[in-house]
Amino acid sequence: MTLRDRDLQVLWHPASHFDDHRDLPPIPIARARGCWLYDQEDRPILDAIASWWTSIHGHCHPEIAAAIAEQAARLDHVLLAGFTHEPAVALAEALLAAAPPGMGRVFYADCGAAAVEVALKLSFQARLLAGEPQRGRFATLENSYHGETLGALALCGNDSYRATFAPLLMPVLELPAPELPDHDLDDLHGDAGADAPAADRAVELLEQHAPELSALILEPLVQCAGRMRMTGVGYYRRVVQAAQRLGIHVIADEIAVGFGRTGRLFASAWAGVSPDLLCLSKGLSGGVLPLAAVLVRAGLDDLFRGGPERSFLHSHTFAGNPIACAAGLASLRLYFADDLPARLPTRAEALRRRRLRVAAESRAIAHHRQAGMIAAFTVRAPDGGPLPARIGLRLRAAALARGVLLRPLHDIVYWMPPLTISDEELDLLADRTLEALREVLG
Ligand SMILES: Cc1ncc(COP(=O)(O)O)c(C=O)c1O
Repeated sequence: MTLRDRDLQVLWHPASHFDDHRDLPPIPIARARGCWLYDQEDRPILDAIASWWTSIHGHCHPEIAAAIAEQAARLDHVLLAGFTHEPAVALAEALLAAAPPGMGRVFYADCGAAAVEVALKLSFQARLLAGEPQRGRFATLENSYHGETLGALALCGNDSYRATFAPLLMPVLELPAPELPDHDLDDLHGDAGADAPAADRAVELLEQHAPELSALILEPLVQCAGRMRMTGVGYYRRVVQAAQRLGIHVIADEIAVGFGRTGRLFASAWAGVSPDLLCLSKGLSGGVLPLAAVLVRAGLDDLFRGGPERSFLHSHTFAGNPIACAAGLASLRLYFADDLPARLPTRAEALRRRRLRVAAESRAIAHHRQAGMIAAFTVRAPDGGPLPARIGLRLRAAALARGVLLRPLHDIVYWMPPLTISDEELDLLADRTLEALREVLG
């Protein structure tokens, strides 16, 4: 029996429909290197989405692999309750040193949704401890995505994830967010989205509901799972400043956009704002091991002192796992050793040139946009007719047949490769994307 057959008998894949496996069965991957995955016959597949937005320096980077091996041989795991270890402390120190100013502590978890749960519960309990029990509600943005555990799911402003489980979810306040369909690299330097009607309305709603709001959660600049909607640095700055002026905690969910994706280590840096709670995962370990962290504003922890009944009772077994933290440290070291802060603008410009070429050469692009190393195309049927059913799946299959992993979000084709992708790989990505678009849409 092939690995594929064995898989189909026992596995239940995430974000997948059983019937789709008939036409597009799971691809057995045997190894990976740099921007490439290799199947069992050693056929290469260009990982243009960094395996769900995780890989920063490329797959199987030797320095990260060595740090993992060394740590695994020294200390594999110890609970973080009542114990500590060098990788957890050193990574927390490094994160706080690199984070937007004002962050003072790190709480570890093991996946993005768990980090969001931590941030929610921390904010909520801080209100209770501060004698503000009436501030028990949360605000989120329309079209947002924060993960799929029940607390995080409640904060997703998107019915395609939420609707089935709606009876299980807490009610939240949803704020409008702008959609900047032609967002480009220069917009990161300005005030994009600040004067959008959605920004006015979001601030109005925050003002109206402030006395009952514990926190506002939002994804800075790009709502990645929300069809790569770019909301603008000016919108982010304005809404964060309004919330903080009104005493509402700001939870920045940089799980997808952190670690250089927008061209800076943290997307919040573009806006010059510091959230109260900053959620990180995905690229935190370089994208190689499950790890998450919530950076907490200095001083918020003071509320949790003064007696055991004030402690934050929340834990995940593998929080701060030494091997995952060692990977995270190696990844951060590489980020600076490879001088990514200085090199990213050039990489983003290289990505931009390919994006413009695809837009110029394909009749199927209605809009295209970019923030740092995230580029997205909204596709259309060139004859103006309706898009074929399951368009995302068809485009994915067409790209895979050409050795490129794209995973369109319905009518949005996007690129979010490892940050180290080369010019040659970008050329190939553009060529194959054009071919896939032509095959499916003409
Ligand atoms: C912005 C954002 N928040 C949270 C999550 C959830 O992370 P995880 O899948 O690790 O639970 C994701 C995952 O894509 C995300 O993009």
